[in-house]
Amino acid sequence: MKKIVVANWKMFPNTLQEAEDLFRVSVGAIVCPPFVYLEELSRLRKVAGQAKIKSVPELGAQDIISGEILRQFGVKYVIIGHSDRRWKLGEPGEIVNKKLKLALSNELMPIVCVGEKSRDGDFESFLENQVLATFAGLASGQIEKCLIAYEPVWAISTTPGARPDTPESALESIKIIKDTLIGNWKLEIGNSPKALYGGSVTSANVRDFLVKNEISGVLVGGASLDKEEFKKIIEIASNV
Ligand code: 13P
Repeated sequence: MKKIVVANWKMFPNTLQEAEDLFRVSVGAIVCPPFVYLEELSRLRKVAGQAKIKSVPELGAQDIISGEILRQFGVKYVIIGHSDRRWKLGEPGEIVNKKLKLALSNELMPIVCVGEKSRDGDFESFLENQVLATFAGLASGQIEKCLIAYEPVWAISTTPGARPDTPESALESIKIIKDTLIGNWKLEIGNSPKALYGGSVTSANVRDFLVKNEISGVLVGGASLDKEEFKKIIEIASNV
């Protein structure tokens, strides 16, 4: 099964030129740039298409705005409920849930982020409740269309003292997430959404996550902004 690599550029790079250069080396990945770069990157995709070049990155948005506008720019994916929005900007679960519904009704594939702030205490119940709130009111067929990114906040490189999760503990959390969905929405086992891992992924650890069958891909922040490093990540992911 082909593994999925998503680049979340967050609020980088600082110039359009750098964004174009990064985009060009990100073939094989889904790139989620800041909104202001979408128009130009979508133009690069079109130019490549006209030249019959098939190997171009896919485009994703970091948040949902009008689905119609996003689709005009060839955007197929949208990150929903990223921890920066949930924790730094205080986006509540009900808004995440509404955005998820909006993405689905606009035929964008949501990359739904969930993850605990700390691994201490009853993180299992925290995760379960976050999943229930995030997917509330969705039909099982809609949930099956999502990609889920397990991103423990404590493992994200910008969190003070961050360290990557281990593949084994990421699998434990992914199991909690999937069991919650399967149990509450009666999903057929084979139809549960694909799970990605995100949190301090680098070329040094990406293979350890991707060799696990239950981890279908990675959501990469900081390391996706370094051309050489990200090329390595894509290369490793395509050979797992
Ligand atoms: P890092 O890869 O920088 O830890 O970021 C993870 C993330 O938040 C991607 O969405």
